[in-house]
Amino acid sequence: MRSVLMHISDLHAGRTFHPRVADQLAREAHDLRPDLLVISGDLVQRADFVSQWEAIMQYLQRLPQPQLIVPGNHDIPLFHVVERFTRPLDRYQRYVSTNLNPVFERPGLVVVGGNSAHGLTIDGGYVSDEQQRIMAQIFARYPDDVFCKIAVLHHGVVRPPGCEKRSIIRNDAEVTQMLEQSGVDVLLCGHHHVSYVGIAGNAKGFVVCQSGTSASRRIREGERGKNAYNVLTIEEASIHISQRRYVETSRRFEPLGEYEFQRRGAWLTAHRRNSPQTL
Ligand SMILES: [Fe+2]
Ligand SMILES: [Fe+2]
Repeated sequence: MRSVLMHISDLHAGRTFHPRVADQLAREAHDLRPDLLVISGDLVQRADFVSQWEAIMQYLQRLPQPQLIVPGNHDIPLFHVVERFTRPLDRYQRYVSTNLNPVFERPGLVVVGGNSAHGLTIDGGYVSDEQQRIMAQIFARYPDDVFCKIAVLHHGVVRPPGCEKRSIIRNDAEVTQMLEQSGVDVLLCGHHHVSYVGIAGNAKGFVVCQSGTSASRRIREGERGKNAYNVLTIEEASIHISQRRYVETSRRFEPLGEYEFQRRGAWLTAHRRNSPQTL
Protein backbone atom coordinates (compact mmCIF):
# COMPACT_ATOMS: atom_id res chain seq x y z
CA MET A 1 0.00 0.00 0.00
CA ARG A 2 1.27 3.44 -0.89
CA SER A 3 1.78 5.74 2.11
CA VAL A 4 2.49 9.47 2.19
CA LEU A 5 4.28 10.97 5.20
CA MET A 6 4.85 14.66 5.88
CA HIS A 7 7.90 15.23 8.04
CA ILE A 8 8.29 18.56 9.84
CA SER A 9 10.67 19.53 12.65
CA ASP A 10 11.99 22.15 15.04
CA LEU A 11 8.93 24.41 15.23
CA HIS A 12 10.33 26.29 18.29
CA ALA A 13 7.17 28.06 19.48
CA GLY A 14 8.21 31.28 21.18
CA ARG A 15 10.23 34.31 20.21
CA THR A 16 11.67 32.76 17.05
CA PHE A 17 8.39 31.27 15.75
CA HIS A 18 7.48 32.54 12.29
CA PRO A 19 3.64 32.83 12.15
CA ARG A 20 3.40 33.54 8.42
CA VAL A 21 5.55 30.52 7.52
CA ALA A 22 3.63 28.41 10.05
CA ASP A 23 0.30 29.44 8.46
CA GLN A 24 1.57 28.38 5.04
CA LEU A 25 2.92 25.12 6.50
CA ALA A 26 -0.54 24.33 7.91
CA ARG A 27 -2.20 25.11 4.57
CA GLU A 28 0.21 22.85 2.68
CA ALA A 29 -0.22 20.07 5.26
CA HIS A 30 -3.99 20.09 4.68
CA ASP A 31 -3.54 20.21 0.89
CA LEU A 32 -1.20 17.21 1.07
CA ARG A 33 -3.49 15.17 3.40
CA PRO A 34 -0.66 12.84 4.47
CA ASP A 35 -1.35 9.43 5.97
CA LEU A 36 0.83 10.56 8.89
CA LEU A 37 2.37 13.84 10.01
CA VAL A 38 5.73 13.31 11.79
CA ILE A 39 7.13 16.06 14.03
CA SER A 40 10.73 15.33 15.06
CA GLY A 41 11.07 17.48 18.19
CA ASP A 42 11.97 20.97 19.43
CA LEU A 43 8.34 21.97 19.65
CA VAL A 44 9.11 24.98 21.86
CA GLN A 45 12.03 27.38 22.12
CA ARG A 46 12.23 27.30 25.92
CA ALA A 47 10.40 24.52 27.74
CA ASP A 48 10.36 26.55 30.99
CA PHE A 49 7.55 28.76 29.69
CA VAL A 50 3.95 27.52 29.88
CA SER A 51 2.88 30.07 27.23
CA GLN A 52 5.07 28.35 24.62
CA TRP A 53 3.54 24.95 25.32
CA GLU A 54 0.06 26.43 25.08
CA ALA A 55 0.96 28.12 21.80
CA ILE A 56 2.40 24.98 20.22
CA MET A 57 -0.51 22.83 21.31
CA GLN A 58 -2.90 25.33 19.71
CA TYR A 59 -0.82 25.24 16.54
CA LEU A 60 -0.63 21.42 16.44
CA GLN A 61 -4.44 21.33 16.59
CA ARG A 62 -4.48 23.23 13.31
CA LEU A 63 -2.38 20.54 11.60
CA PRO A 64 -3.81 17.31 10.16
CA GLN A 65 -4.09 14.09 12.16
CA PRO A 66 -2.75 11.52 12.79
CA GLN A 67 0.47 12.99 14.19
CA LEU A 68 3.53 11.19 15.56
CA ILE A 69 5.68 13.43 17.78
CA VAL A 70 8.99 12.98 19.62
CA PRO A 71 10.69 15.43 22.02
CA GLY A 72 13.80 17.51 21.27
CA ASN A 73 16.44 19.08 23.50
CA HIS A 74 14.51 22.39 23.58
CA ASP A 75 11.52 20.55 25.03
CA ILE A 76 13.48 20.08 28.26
CA PRO A 77 13.62 22.99 30.74
CA LEU A 78 16.85 24.94 30.96
CA PHE A 79 16.33 27.22 34.00
CA HIS A 80 14.42 24.80 36.25
CA VAL A 81 17.62 22.90 37.03
CA VAL A 82 16.26 20.31 39.47
CA GLU A 83 13.47 19.44 37.07
CA ARG A 84 15.92 19.38 34.16
CA PHE A 85 18.02 16.68 35.82
CA THR A 86 15.34 14.69 37.63
CA ARG A 87 12.18 14.94 35.50
CA PRO A 88 13.37 16.43 32.18
CA LEU A 89 10.40 15.33 30.08
CA ASP A 90 7.65 16.21 32.60
CA ARG A 91 6.44 19.22 30.64
CA TYR A 92 6.55 17.45 27.29
CA GLN A 93 4.57 14.58 28.81
CA ARG A 94 2.09 16.96 30.44
CA TYR A 95 1.32 18.92 27.28
CA VAL A 96 2.09 16.61 24.33
CA SER A 97 2.01 12.94 25.31
CA THR A 98 3.01 10.61 28.09
CA ASN A 99 4.09 8.11 25.44
CA LEU A 100 7.75 8.53 24.44
CA ASN A 101 7.53 5.65 21.95
CA PRO A 102 4.52 6.36 19.75
CA VAL A 103 3.79 3.79 17.03
CA PHE A 104 1.90 4.27 13.79
CA GLU A 105 1.12 1.32 11.58
CA ARG A 106 -0.77 0.59 8.42
CA PRO A 107 -0.36 -2.24 5.90
CA GLY A 108 3.27 -2.28 4.78
CA LEU A 109 4.43 0.53 7.08
CA VAL A 110 5.41 0.99 10.72
CA VAL A 111 6.73 4.25 12.23
CA VAL A 112 8.22 4.22 15.75
CA GLY A 113 9.27 7.27 17.77
CA GLY A 114 12.01 7.40 20.40
CA ASN A 115 13.62 9.88 22.78
CA SER A 116 17.12 11.27 22.23
CA ALA A 117 16.70 14.35 24.47
CA HIS A 118 18.00 14.46 28.04
CA GLY A 119 18.82 17.01 30.70
CA LEU A 120 22.56 16.47 31.02
CA THR A 121 23.64 18.71 28.16
CA ILE A 122 21.85 21.62 26.53
CA ASP A 123 22.36 20.54 22.94
CA GLY A 124 23.49 16.93 22.73
CA GLY A 125 21.52 13.78 22.18
CA TYR A 126 21.65 10.33 23.73
CA VAL A 127 19.42 7.29 23.32
CA SER A 128 19.33 5.35 26.60
CA ASP A 129 19.66 1.57 26.78
CA GLU A 130 16.00 1.43 27.81
CA GLN A 131 14.90 3.53 24.83
CA GLN A 132 16.98 1.37 22.48
CA ARG A 133 15.50 -1.79 23.95
CA ILE A 134 11.93 -0.50 23.63
CA MET A 135 12.42 0.60 20.01
CA ALA A 136 14.09 -2.71 19.07
CA GLN A 137 11.27 -4.67 20.73
CA ILE A 138 8.60 -2.75 18.83
CA PHE A 139 10.37 -3.12 15.47
CA ALA A 140 10.87 -6.87 16.12
CA ARG A 141 7.08 -7.35 15.93
CA TYR A 142 7.13 -6.41 12.24
CA PRO A 143 8.79 -8.64 9.61
CA ASP A 144 11.43 -6.79 7.56
CA ASP A 145 10.19 -8.08 4.22
CA VAL A 146 6.59 -6.97 4.78
CA PHE A 147 6.99 -3.60 6.48
CA CYS A 148 8.87 -0.44 5.63
CA LYS A 149 10.26 0.50 9.05
CA ILE A 150 10.73 4.14 9.97
CA ALA A 151 12.36 5.39 13.19
CA VAL A 152 11.89 8.96 14.45
CA LEU A 153 14.40 10.66 16.77
CA HIS A 154 15.16 14.34 17.30
CA HIS A 155 18.93 13.98 16.98
CA GLY A 156 20.48 12.11 14.07
CA VAL A 157 23.44 9.78 13.68
CA VAL A 158 25.32 11.65 10.94
CA ARG A 159 26.60 15.19 10.55
CA PRO A 160 25.52 16.67 7.22
CA PRO A 161 28.05 18.76 5.28
CA GLY A 162 28.44 22.11 7.05
CA CYS A 163 27.37 20.63 10.42
CA GLU A 164 30.75 19.07 11.32
CA LYS A 165 30.81 20.79 14.71
CA ARG A 166 27.14 20.22 15.56
CA SER A 167 25.94 17.56 17.97
CA ILE A 168 24.49 14.21 17.01
CA ILE A 169 23.50 11.27 19.20
CA ARG A 170 26.49 10.70 21.52
CA ASN A 171 26.17 6.91 21.30
CA ASP A 172 25.61 7.11 17.55
CA ALA A 173 27.46 3.87 16.70
CA GLU A 174 25.33 1.88 19.15
CA VAL A 175 22.09 3.45 17.94
CA THR A 176 23.03 2.94 14.28
CA GLN A 177 23.65 -0.74 15.03
CA MET A 178 20.30 -1.05 16.84
CA LEU A 179 18.46 0.57 13.91
CA GLU A 180 20.21 -1.66 11.37
CA GLN A 181 19.59 -4.82 13.39
CA SER A 182 15.93 -3.78 13.72
CA GLY A 183 15.63 -3.64 9.93
CA VAL A 184 14.96 0.10 9.91
CA ASP A 185 14.72 1.58 6.42
CA VAL A 186 14.53 5.30 7.24
CA LEU A 187 15.54 7.49 10.20
CA LEU A 188 13.62 10.77 10.36
CA CYS A 189 15.31 13.46 12.46
CA GLY A 190 15.89 17.20 12.86
CA HIS A 191 17.96 19.31 15.29
CA HIS A 192 20.58 20.88 12.98
CA HIS A 193 17.99 23.09 11.23
CA VAL A 194 19.44 21.85 7.96
CA SER A 195 17.68 19.59 5.44
CA TYR A 196 19.67 16.54 4.50
CA VAL A 197 19.12 13.18 2.86
CA GLY A 198 21.78 10.47 2.92
CA ILE A 199 22.61 6.90 3.89
CA ALA A 200 23.94 5.65 7.25
CA GLY A 201 24.95 2.25 8.59
CA ASN A 202 27.53 -0.39 7.93
CA ALA A 203 25.63 -3.35 6.49
CA LYS A 204 22.25 -2.99 4.79
CA GLY A 205 22.18 0.65 5.77
CA PHE A 206 19.21 2.98 6.11
CA VAL A 207 18.14 6.29 4.68
CA VAL A 208 18.68 9.34 6.89
CA CYS A 209 16.11 12.02 6.22
CA GLN A 210 16.64 15.21 8.21
CA SER A 211 14.29 18.17 8.10
CA GLY A 212 15.32 21.79 8.50
CA THR A 213 13.29 23.93 10.87
CA SER A 214 9.78 24.09 9.47
CA ALA A 215 8.56 27.29 11.15
CA SER A 216 11.35 28.98 13.11
CA ARG A 217 13.59 31.96 12.42
CA ARG A 218 16.25 30.11 14.39
CA ILE A 219 18.54 29.65 11.42
CA ARG A 220 22.12 30.10 12.42
CA GLU A 221 24.44 32.35 10.48
CA GLY A 222 26.66 30.40 8.16
CA GLU A 223 24.16 27.55 7.81
CA ARG A 224 22.31 27.20 4.61
CA GLY A 225 19.23 25.70 6.21
CA LYS A 226 15.97 27.49 5.52
CA ASN A 227 12.43 26.69 6.59
CA ALA A 228 11.73 23.29 5.15
CA TYR A 229 9.87 20.01 5.38
CA ASN A 230 9.96 16.62 3.66
CA VAL A 231 7.34 14.53 1.91
CA LEU A 232 8.00 10.79 1.81
CA THR A 233 6.12 8.49 -0.52
CA ILE A 234 6.58 4.89 0.54
CA GLU A 235 5.89 2.05 -1.85
CA GLU A 236 6.70 -1.63 -1.56
CA ALA A 237 10.23 -1.44 -2.96
CA SER A 238 10.91 2.28 -3.21
CA ILE A 239 10.98 5.43 -1.13
CA HIS A 240 10.67 8.83 -2.71
CA ILE A 241 11.68 11.90 -0.70
CA SER A 242 10.79 15.40 -1.79
CA GLN A 243 12.47 18.24 0.12
CA ARG A 244 10.41 21.43 0.22
CA ARG A 245 11.88 24.81 1.11
CA TYR A 246 10.10 28.07 1.91
CA VAL A 247 10.69 30.71 -0.73
CA GLU A 248 10.17 34.30 0.43
CA THR A 249 9.17 35.64 -2.98
CA SER A 250 6.36 33.16 -3.57
CA ARG A 251 5.54 32.73 0.14
CA ARG A 252 5.21 28.99 -0.38
CA PHE A 253 7.29 25.90 0.22
CA GLU A 254 8.63 24.79 -3.14
CA PRO A 255 10.13 21.42 -4.15
CA LEU A 256 13.90 21.50 -4.33
CA GLY A 257 15.57 18.14 -3.82
CA GLU A 258 14.00 14.91 -5.05
CA TYR A 259 15.46 11.55 -4.02
CA GLU A 260 14.40 8.09 -5.09
CA PHE A 261 15.64 5.07 -3.11
CA GLN A 262 15.14 1.52 -4.27
CA ARG A 263 15.57 -1.56 -2.16
CA ARG A 264 17.89 -4.12 -3.70
CA GLY A 265 19.28 -5.81 -0.61
CA ALA A 266 20.53 -2.42 0.49
CA TRP A 267 18.93 0.96 -0.16
CA LEU A 268 20.21 2.49 -3.35
CA THR A 269 19.70 6.01 -4.59
CA ALA A 270 18.40 5.50 -8.09
CA HIS A 271 18.64 9.15 -8.95
CA ARG A 272 18.78 12.57 -7.39
CA ARG A 273 17.43 15.51 -9.29
CA ASN A 274 18.45 19.17 -9.00
CA SER A 275 19.47 18.81 -5.40
CA PRO A 276 22.44 19.76 -3.30
CA GLN A 277 23.06 17.52 -0.28
CA THR A 278 21.82 20.17 2.08
CA LEU A 279 19.40 23.00 1.42
FE1 LIG B 1 15.89 22.97 16.98
FE1 LIG C 1 17.41 20.43 18.82
